[in-house]
Amino acid sequence: MVDFEGDYTVRSPGRVNLIGGHTDYTLGYVMPLATDLQTRLEATVSEDVHVSSSALESSYSFATDDLEPVEDWVDYVKGCYAILQAAGYDPGGFRGDITTTLPIGAGLSSSASLELAVMALLNEAYDLGLSRERMARLSQRVENDYVGVACGIMDQFAVALGQDGHALSIDTETLTYTPVPFPDGIEILVFHTGVSRGLVESAYNQRRETVEGALEKLDVDSSTAVTEADLVGLPPRERERLGYVVRENARVQRAQAALEDGEIQTFGEILLSAHRDIADHYDASCKELDFVVETALEAGAYGARLTGAGWGGAAIAVVDTETVESVATSIEAAYREQFPEHDPHYYRIEASDGVRVTHTG
Ligand code: GLA
Repeated sequence: MVDFEGDYTVRSPGRVNLIGGHTDYTLGYVMPLATDLQTRLEATVSEDVHVSSSALESSYSFATDDLEPVEDWVDYVKGCYAILQAAGYDPGGFRGDITTTLPIGAGLSSSASLELAVMALLNEAYDLGLSRERMARLSQRVENDYVGVACGIMDQFAVALGQDGHALSIDTETLTYTPVPFPDGIEILVFHTGVSRGLVESAYNQRRETVEGALEKLDVDSSTAVTEADLVGLPPRERERLGYVVRENARVQRAQAALEDGEIQTFGEILLSAHRDIADHYDASCKELDFVVETALEAGAYGARLTGAGWGGAAIAVVDTETVESVATSIEAAYREQFPEHDPHYYRIEASDGVRVTHTG
């Protein structure tokens, strides 16, 4: 429940990545969409910051020159101030209340959603003049430089620039992108395994180090500049990891073409091969995600794959709108029987606009 109405209402989506898993930190291709599940921030300007989260049942107050991290959700708010100040901006405070329909920790970018909500609020309330791209880049720096997560730009970019009814096919090196209309009659089902992603950060950083090491040996900045033939001289582990990334970049391009042509069967098959490749050669899946993917196919999905970082969190399935409820409930039933220790949830997602601020006061 929102317990007060502010002068500003910010609606900030989450993101679901359709394809392009673990490609963004080597400046590869991705194709995410912004979700209709979203964070909502009601706010009024004030001198200091007073912010509460109904979802997390806690609140914090801090002055805008008191930006020590406290290892809690408020670090995403404090981090926005720290990064904005480092970039030469000096926004004042706000009093705000956060509610959300996004599941937290499910791999749907609830943290990027919060960062962009705060960035967009400060941009509007204090006339910072930031473009959406710039807000995305600054929010990525909140993660990289303040929170200490070495993520790529995908999540923040999708949350900032998402478009209603479209996925975005993005070149994360140049940040050029193509909105790809999502065809009528099919839906993205998101199935959260209920597996918390405890060791994700160290595994993520390890993968990143491995592929960055490989790019350095090949003397290129972006994985899109690497061909299969270039991989031959690399040490086996680097060859395997970067090999996956190179194939994934190619799959993003094929998946974009398939979506544009309305070739849903092909699109689904590409997603499935992406899942198998990331599971076998990037070791970023887990038995629960593999089970969801295989069960989704048996239940009639065109294709399915893990989304987000992996090792738990959520998988997506591409399903006919007409059958989505029956597919979802049959995956859920099979999953609960197989993994009674987990508490899964599913969500039907629509591609939505990026962060929006409404000034009501
Ligand atoms: C996380 C990161 C993204 C991206 C994905 C994997 O969501 O925040 O930058 O690397 O993992 O595709």
